[in-house]
Amino acid sequence: MTGELSPIDKAKFVAAKRAADFVEDGMRVGLGTGSTAAWLVRCLGEMVRDEGLKIRGVPTSTRTAELAREVGINVISLDEAKWLDLTIDGADEFDGDLNLIKGGGGALLQEKIVATASDQMIVIADIGKEVETLGAFPLPVEVIPFGWQTTQALVEETLISMDVLGRTATLRMNGQTPFITDEGNYILDLHLNRIGNPRQLAMVLNQMPGVVENGLFMDICDIVVVGYGDGRVELRDINQGTIEHDRLDFLESDNLFTDLAD
Ligand code: 5RP
Repeated sequence: MTGELSPIDKAKFVAAKRAADFVEDGMRVGLGTGSTAAWLVRCLGEMVRDEGLKIRGVPTSTRTAELAREVGINVISLDEAKWLDLTIDGADEFDGDLNLIKGGGGALLQEKIVATASDQMIVIADIGKEVETLGAFPLPVEVIPFGWQTTQALVEETLISMDVLGRTATLRMNGQTPFITDEGNYILDLHLNRIGNPRQLAMVLNQMPGVVENGLFMDICDIVVVGYGDGRVELRDINQGTIEHDRLDFLESDNLFTDLAD
């Protein structure tokens, strides 16, 4: 199975596997959404099964909840957990300050609520997610379906006075119909190319009545675990100002891939 993984999948896997080392017995852990976070959930499931790890997991989407239950993680709601020790999630982009764009998988609202209710947030990503300036990835914004076109027009008008390079907002589709989030909302993807002042943009977007939340995660992430296709991982800790290098042995992981293949 290892041989069938693309370099990007290997990078995602090693980042997830290294981040799983941060999870300790008794922790309440926020479980992110997306393909990288899915590797993390599988790694944790393996640790629960083989090492008797005892954790309670709070998923950030119905997709992640299903996978977590499937691999044997004890799933609870955020309100049951009340507060989390750690959240581990993927990202669409991260910059040098560990600010993020998230929501490519449409789960940004639960992801932001869960990450914000955690002592620590660790992002797991392949090196392709690193950017100097956020904004090449379209910024997801969750909006209320009622009057969404009015909200879209307001967003586009507001973008005129923002430090961005592109100014169009498109409704995310799922085939012929709008993509619907777990909360029953729509997603507008903002094609900005470059976001000069993400902090200002995040605040302005969230002041619009039809906007529920935006995909800019500012000052939320503490550590990024960056994975490479050859098994190298890099841990960047924004609070400590440290960078650690590590390497994962793929041979050890062969069973994991085989056991947990989709
Ligand atoms: C979902 C997200 C994901 O974390 C993000 O889209 C990255 O996904 P992937 O790990 O599949 O590249 O924000 O809403």
